[in-house]
Amino acid sequence: MDGLSAVLLAAFTALLALAAPLLAGDPDMLQDLCVADYKSLEGPLRLNGFPCKRPENVTATDFFSDVLSLPGNISNPVGSTITAVNVEKVPGLNTLGMSMSRIDYVPWGVNPPHTHPRATEMLFVLEGSLDAGFVTTAGKLFVRTVCKGGVFVFPRGLVHFQKNNGGVPAVAISAFNSQLPGTQSLTEAMLAAFPLEHTDVLVRALQIDGGAPVHVV
Ligand SMILES: *[C@@H]1O[C@H](CO)[C@@H](O)[C@H](O)[C@H]1NC(C)=O
Ligand SMILES: *[C@@H]1O[C@H](CO)[C@@H](O)[C@H](O)[C@H]1NC(C)=O
Repeated sequence: MDGLSAVLLAAFTALLALAAPLLAGDPDMLQDLCVADYKSLEGPLRLNGFPCKRPENVTATDFFSDVLSLPGNISNPVGSTITAVNVEKVPGLNTLGMSMSRIDYVPWGVNPPHTHPRATEMLFVLEGSLDAGFVTTAGKLFVRTVCKGGVFVFPRGLVHFQKNNGGVPAVAISAFNSQLPGTQSLTEAMLAAFPLEHTDVLVRALQIDGGAPVHVV
């Protein structure tokens, strides 16, 4: 590599390093407030995010929610439930690039493998003890026990899960660097979303056929 190429490469690398933090989450805000105006989306208008309410229509309540104060309803087969506070619940979060959730677990309950395409998650264990883990795109599993008071980070977009590893209920609070992180459940994406006429895709992908391995040509 000649001197000029080396300088250009160094400059390009420095530019990337500067740009990376700006691209790590939601786009930056351009004004103090942009409280989501849900009503304006009732018409034909469609855009990436929410338009801002008129300033005279903004109230303190636009920045408030108490939904995290109560446990969610955990009457489901997996034994966990998520209560989210995102831009769809708190309009004042619009353009601020963050949101939170509360997760309640029955004893041994599981928050099944899922991803958040738009956010890194930082989970704080409020009560109980969890086994928390994520899988990289290289297929490497990072998992460990996180006791009350501990935190664990799930990098943006990676498949992750938690399991209550105790015989008592557990509670966690999660923070996200997106106003609407999005959640894609692996089981729902693979099993619930596929109509019957496409089960051959799953049979081949999962190598199953009535419980027996499928012969791959
Ligand atoms: C905003 O306030 C104006 C009056 O200041 C009212 O006419 C309008 O309906 C309000 N819009 C919304 C979305 O509440
Ligand atoms: C909790 O969810 C279950 C199953 O969806 C439902 O039958 C039950 O009524 C719910 N309980 C409350 C208190 O909402």
